[in-house]
Amino acid sequence: MKSISTKLWLIIIGFTTLILTLTLIIGFSLFNKYYYHTITSNMITEAKGISDIYYQAENEEEFRKEVDRLRNVLKEEIIVTSNSMLLAGCIPFEQASKDMLISAEERGQLVEGKTVVHKGYHSRFGKQILAVVVPLFRDDRMVGAVFLYSSLALLQEDIDEIQNLILFGGIIAIAAAICIGFFLSKKLSSPLIRMEKVAQQMAKGNYEVSLEERSKDEIGRLSTSLNQLSAALVKQEKLRRDFVANVSHELRTPLSFLQGYSEILLDGVDNPKESEEYLSIILEETKRLRRLVDDLLNLTRLDIEQKIVNRSPIDWASVVQSVINNFKPTAEEKGIILSYKVADDLRPVCGNVNQLKQVLINLLDNAHRFTSSGGEIEVLLSLKSDHVTTQVRDTGKGIPEEELPMIWERFYKVDKSRAGRSGTGLGLAIVKDIIQDHGGQIKVESKEGKGSIFMFTLQICPDAKCDEYGEYSKCDKCDNCDKVTGEAK
Ligand SMILES: Nc1ncnc2c1ncn2[C@@H]1O[C@H](COP(=O)(O)OP(=O)(O)OP(=O)(O)O)[C@@H](O)[C@H]1O
Ligand SMILES: [Mg+2]
Repeated sequence: MKSISTKLWLIIIGFTTLILTLTLIIGFSLFNKYYYHTITSNMITEAKGISDIYYQAENEEEFRKEVDRLRNVLKEEIIVTSNSMLLAGCIPFEQASKDMLISAEERGQLVEGKTVVHKGYHSRFGKQILAVVVPLFRDDRMVGAVFLYSSLALLQEDIDEIQNLILFGGIIAIAAAICIGFFLSKKLSSPLIRMEKVAQQMAKGNYEVSLEERSKDEIGRLSTSLNQLSAALVKQEKLRRDFVANVSHELRTPLSFLQGYSEILLDGVDNPKESEEYLSIILEETKRLRRLVDDLLNLTRLDIEQKIVNRSPIDWASVVQSVINNFKPTAEEKGIILSYKVADDLRPVCGNVNQLKQVLINLLDNAHRFTSSGGEIEVLLSLKSDHVTTQVRDTGKGIPEEELPMIWERFYKVDKSRAGRSGTGLGLAIVKDIIQDHGGQIKVESKEGKGSIFMFTLQICPDAKCDEYGEYSKCDKCDNCDKVTGEAK
């Protein structure tokens, strides 16, 4: 396969040669025409000049002398004939050829006072010539003619000489095109070749590559895009590695607990209280493992389902109420006051009920875990233009300001010892994924020692009910309606 620089080079040479050849062909033919036109008009001027000398000469002797002088000066051959009938007897009287100098038709033109031009083979001279004939009149009668001619072969020699010079110039131009084309193609293709090498490196898994952005054109922008792609891949790869490392770490701890305590139990423990304690640790760790696996599955499912999950109108107030009811025993057990306030004008929101339930569960779970006995947890629902805002407030330990941006990252825990062994650091990552997927916004306000407020928005459904035909035009923010029941799916 030819390289791109060779292809570019061949294209440049091909185009230059084609254009030069066309220019030379057209140029040569125009030049030929122009050259003969100039020579002919020069000859006509000279012939007319000779005829003027004839009219001004005192006698034939003087005229002949003048013609002889001109014969040495002019390139063309001069024949002055006084035999107007045959145009065969010539001055000087060197020979009396029987061959006609001009045809009868041309003679007719001369009689009318016209100038005759002849280009081509002439039988009298036995060669190709260019001739100009001007009539000579005396008392309104044609008494002779001036016949000026030049051999075409001689003229062609001049033309060939000039054409050879131009051809030589053309060859030099093609040679220059070959050299310039070589450097140009190398220069044009070198960034592409560099990019190809970088792309190959990336394909092999080496993402930490960078390209110099030398120009602002499309190639420069392509380099920028490749650099951005490389940076994104490096980041992605780091995330992947961190993720695998975190998952392995999170799995290893409960697994070693399970293994250790099972081995102790198998070895036999005399004290039934002790064995009960070990069994409850095993149960706790199993629950923790299960929770971790569930969270991981949730995250994976979110990644896959993002685009395909069906949205439907949700009576958000009652969903929140039911989740809060489930948390009541936990709150009571910990001595936390759990309250719930909902605006009267609340509208149904649009989304996936299971995922949104998960959001609330994760936030309430955090609030319970990081709020100590005697604290308060409050859930507030309010309506603002086209969205419902949900707030989960707690009077717990709060999060240090510098940690706030990181809490949404997978496996991030503010303080590992404080979070205890119950959390995995995946809860808020799941929450953020779900809310963003629903086109909502989520933010947190927190003060260490005072408490935290987690807020997120959800789009409302303009009309939760579908019409009788099951069309969802009225609830156009949702994906579908049940066509059989007419209810929103
Ligand atoms: N309401 C809160 N009050 C104080 N700190 C919080 C609160 N919510 C979250 N955090 C901090 O943010 C970290 C990340 O929370 P996230 O829910 O993602 O993980 P987790 O609760 O530790 O584990 P998981 O939810 O996966 O079981 C927590 O470890 C905790 O340090
Ligand atoms: Mg959590």
